[in-house]
Amino acid sequence: MFIRGALAILAFKHLASSGVAAQTTLPAYKTWTSIGCLRDSVEGRVLHHLVTLSDATVEACLDACIVNNYALAGLEFGHECYCGNSILYDYPQSPECILPCAGDSDEICGGPESLSLYQNAGIPFTVGNGSVVQSYGLWQLWECIEENGRLLPHGPKVPIPSDQMTVERCADGCAAAGWTTAGLERGWQCFCGNITQPFPSGWESTSGFECNLPCLGNAQELCGGTLDEGRFLAYSNLPQVATAPPEWFQQGCFVDVPTNGGMHLLPRAPSTTIPSAEMTVENCISACNNAAGYNASAGVTAGDECWCGDYSAMPGVLAQTNSCNLRCTGDGREVCGGSGSMFIYSNPVVALQSYLTFFGNWSLQGCFVDDTSLNGGSSLLPIPSPLIPSAIHARHCMDSCGTLGYGSAGMKQGNECWCGNITTPGVTVPMSDCNSRCADDPFESCGAVDRLQLYQFEGTFS
Ligand SMILES: *[C@@H]1O[C@H](CO)[C@@H](O)[C@H](O)[C@H]1NC(C)=O
Ligand SMILES: *[C@@H]1O[C@H](CO)[C@@H](O)[C@H](O)[C@H]1NC(C)=O
Ligand SMILES: *[C@@H]1O[C@H](CO)[C@@H](O)[C@H](O)[C@H]1NC(C)=O
Ligand SMILES: *[C@@H]1O[C@H](CO)[C@@H](O)[C@H](O)[C@H]1NC(C)=O
Ligand SMILES: *[C@@H]1O[C@H](CO)[C@@H](O)[C@H](O)[C@H]1NC(C)=O
Repeated sequence: MFIRGALAILAFKHLASSGVAAQTTLPAYKTWTSIGCLRDSVEGRVLHHLVTLSDATVEACLDACIVNNYALAGLEFGHECYCGNSILYDYPQSPECILPCAGDSDEICGGPESLSLYQNAGIPFTVGNGSVVQSYGLWQLWECIEENGRLLPHGPKVPIPSDQMTVERCADGCAAAGWTTAGLERGWQCFCGNITQPFPSGWESTSGFECNLPCLGNAQELCGGTLDEGRFLAYSNLPQVATAPPEWFQQGCFVDVPTNGGMHLLPRAPSTTIPSAEMTVENCISACNNAAGYNASAGVTAGDECWCGDYSAMPGVLAQTNSCNLRCTGDGREVCGGSGSMFIYSNPVVALQSYLTFFGNWSLQGCFVDDTSLNGGSSLLPIPSPLIPSAIHARHCMDSCGTLGYGSAGMKQGNECWCGNITTPGVTVPMSDCNSRCADDPFESCGAVDRLQLYQFEGTFS
C-alpha cells in the first residue's frame, strides 16, 4: 500500500480582486489538517463520496466526512464536498484553489477542477491506479467487455453498498445467488448472470485498459469502465481451459470413450502417478514431457486422469468444447476434460515428426522445393484438388487425387492439396522443412510454404 507522504502543504492566500475581503485556506479543524490542492476531473473524481451541504463551509464538509471516519475530505468549486479513503486518481497539484466558500466568503473551498484536500487524524490513505484482480478463489478474470444491452441482468444475493464495492464482494455476492459470472462496472456496480463464451454477437471484448475505474471499496483494485461507455470487467467461476505452456499448444476437446481393451485416445499413463490432489494441466503436461517416447501429447480427462501420447497418435473426433467441463482435482479453476472427453495438449516439436510414409499404395517421396515464383508461376503438381482448404490432411489429399485418376498427390502450407502425374519432382529438402500442420489434423505435417510434401501411387489403378 502506497501512503502518500509527499503531498506538499501549499500556502493558500488569495486577495480578492476587490482588495477588501481576503480568503484563506483553513489550515486545520478538529482532527483535520489541510494537505494541499489537487487537480480533479469529472472524468474520474479524486474522492468518491459526494456530500450535499446546505451551507458550504470547510467545517461543515469536514464534519460530514467524519461520520464514517473517512481519511480524506475535499472541497471544490466553492460549494462541493467529497469524502473518501483513497486518492482514486493521481492527478497533479493545482494552483487554483481560489474560490470562496458559498457559506463563508472568508474561506477557500477549492476552485474549478481543483480540490482543497484535508486529511483526518493522519489516517493513512492509498493513491490511485489500481490493478486488475486476476483471480479470487475459483473466480478468474475473463476480460473487459463492452456492453450492448444487459448481458448480466441480475444482482448479488445481498445488495452491496457502492462505497464498499470490491471484486471479491461482487464475486461472493454473485456466487451466493447461484450465478457463475460476475461483472463490475463504473467502480461501484455489481451484476451477475450465467454466460459462457463465445459471447453473443454484438458483444465485444475490449482492451483491459478500458476497464480502469478503481473500486470504490478498494482503490487498489479495478472495477470496470465508465458510465458512458458501458464497459464491465467480467469474472467467471466456471473452470476454464488452461492455456498451454510455452512450446505446447491446445489440440482441443476430443471424444474419449475407452472401448476395446480400455484404451484412451492417448495410450500411456505417465511414469510417475500424479496424486488426485495434484492433478492439474501443468502437472500432466510436465509428467508427459518426461515420458520417453510419449512426450508429444498430454490429455486430461474425468477431472483427475492424465494420459500421454506418442507422435503418431491421432486425436480422433472433436467433442463439443463445453463437454470438457470438469474441474481438475488439483486446481478447481482449470478444466481437466470431461466424462467421455479428453482435453489434449501437444508439443509441436515432437508432434510434427508425424507424417505418413505409406498409405495404401501411396508412398512418401519426400519434401520438395515448390516455389511458383521460381517456376514461372506453375506448381510442381498442376491440378488443385477439390478438397476444401480446412479439410486437408494427407490421407484426404491422396484419396482425392486417386479418385481423379492421378498418380501424384502433394500438400503445401498446411491447407493446399495438389494432384498430377509427376516424373521429376526437382530439388529435395529435409522432411523437417515440410513443417506446416495439416488444416484437418494438427498431428501431421502437410508441406510448408513453397514446399511440397509429395506422395506417389505405386499400385495400378483399377
Ligand atoms: C496512473 O495511471 C495514469 C494513466 O494510466 C498514469 O499516467 C500515471 O502515471 C499513473 N500513476 C501512477 C502513480 O502509477
Ligand atoms: C446458473 O448456473 C449454475 C451453475 O451451472 C446453475 O446451478 C444455476 O441453476 C444457473 N442458473 C440459471 C438461472 O440458469
Ligand atoms: C521425446 O522423447 C524422445 C524419446 O525419448 C526423445 O528422443 C525426445 O528428445 C523427446 N523430445 C522432447 C521435445 O522432449
Ligand atoms: C495396392 O494395389 C494392388 C493392386 O495394384 C492391390 O492388390 C493391393 O491390395 C494394394 N495395396 C493396398 C495396401 O491397398
Ligand atoms: C496418371 O498416372 C496414372 C498411373 O500411371 C494413369 O493411370 C493415369 O491415366 C494418369 N493420368 C493422367 C491424367 O495422365
